[in-house]
Amino acid sequence: MPTIDRRRLAALMEREQKKFVDERPKSQALFERGKKSLLAGVPMNWMVKWAGAFPPFVREAQGAHFYDVDGHRYIDLCLGDTGAMTGHSPFATVKAIEEQSKRGITLMLPSEDAVFVAEELQKRFGLAYWQFALTATDANRFSIRLARQINGRPKILVFNWCYHGSVDETFITLLPDGTAQARRGNIGPAVDPAETTRVVEFNDLNALEAALSHGDVACVLAEPALTNVGIVLPDPGFHKALRDLTRKHGALLIIDETHTICAGPGGYTRAENLDPDMLVIGKPIGAGVPGATYGFTQDVADMISARHSLEDCDTGGIGGTLAGNALSLAAMRATLTKVLTKEAFDRMMPVAERWTAGVEKGIKDFDMPWHVTRLGCRAEYLFAPNAPKNGTEAHDAMDFELERLMHLYAMNRGILLTPFHNMALMSPATAPDDVDQHTRVFREALKELAG
Ligand SMILES: Cc1ncc(COP(=O)(O)O)c(C=O)c1O
Repeated sequence: MPTIDRRRLAALMEREQKKFVDERPKSQALFERGKKSLLAGVPMNWMVKWAGAFPPFVREAQGAHFYDVDGHRYIDLCLGDTGAMTGHSPFATVKAIEEQSKRGITLMLPSEDAVFVAEELQKRFGLAYWQFALTATDANRFSIRLARQINGRPKILVFNWCYHGSVDETFITLLPDGTAQARRGNIGPAVDPAETTRVVEFNDLNALEAALSHGDVACVLAEPALTNVGIVLPDPGFHKALRDLTRKHGALLIIDETHTICAGPGGYTRAENLDPDMLVIGKPIGAGVPGATYGFTQDVADMISARHSLEDCDTGGIGGTLAGNALSLAAMRATLTKVLTKEAFDRMMPVAERWTAGVEKGIKDFDMPWHVTRLGCRAEYLFAPNAPKNGTEAHDAMDFELERLMHLYAMNRGILLTPFHNMALMSPATAPDDVDQHTRVFREALKELAG
């Protein structure tokens, strides 16, 4: 198996960076102009992380594609890091948004759509009661607060190298000696996350049991498969044991389906028959219109109600004036009933299989020590020969320079991957031809890397 020649990698990066800049004068000009009014020239901090010298500025997006201001067309396999998993601006959602926006956008009063969407969520995920927030981050934060209130315990438990949005308690990693510390880059934490959080490796049931046995964990917050450090799948039996152990030790189980909705219309929870106490999902449920939801079982709802204070319910730390607004609920109703349907998933899965097969063959043909993993309509290659068992193994396989080259190489040839790792997501509008184009470009990159 070849190892990557770092000098060749650097030379390729230089060539690709020049190509990127030369071909995008309008994006560059906007970036330079933006630097005078936007911090670092971009409207939010992550947007500097794209592999190009600046991000391509978008002119318009539709379905599985977008155009930048220089006229380049891209196959979008990032899809707003799942926010646009529906495809960009799906017709049914756009129509609902158009109609609702003429009838009122936000009122702090419920609409019929709220009841309809909650009923649809009941059917999809099996949980009895639902509340809305604007982001998955908020939905996670609110679920954690409720869990701590319910069982009066101070801590939460997460899996190493998880990502659940900008939730303070989750920015923690394990050190090799088993102690935990704030994750690198943690900006201005209020308290040391080791005070609020226990962290164990995914798939490590002994460590999970040991951590829960302290009796101070209010809830476990988990993606059913890690998706934010590459994909890490659960071992057979992991979820049953996680459920049994959380029950045994009196911790609530919150499943974050924000990315794993890729497993099917009812997420991983329905696909694999999980039985969480609470469930969170954001990003794509309104086709990218800000909105998120968190649901809970009858038992949890009863415990929340028993602690509810009418007088203080607006200042208890769960809120958001725009949460549950009429526009995002109209977008969710249309998206859930007409866009992210079972029929759409039935189309997306084989397209993801095709992407995975193309990447797998490329890896094999060029004898790269890499592998590819698929979870429903999401797939990802990692720079290690075997699938990781946990977050540390996945994190150790990351190679920032190599990742940037693969992303820039793809971008220069009209393909967008997520800027964080090597993830590709299929929307209902993604076609087999889009995937085949990725396969061709991926093989070209491997050929050049192999030398
Ligand atoms: C699993 C998971 N949960 C929650 C979030 C937070 O979503 P948002 O940034 O939209 O609040 C993310 C974001 O990437 C995520 O991957």
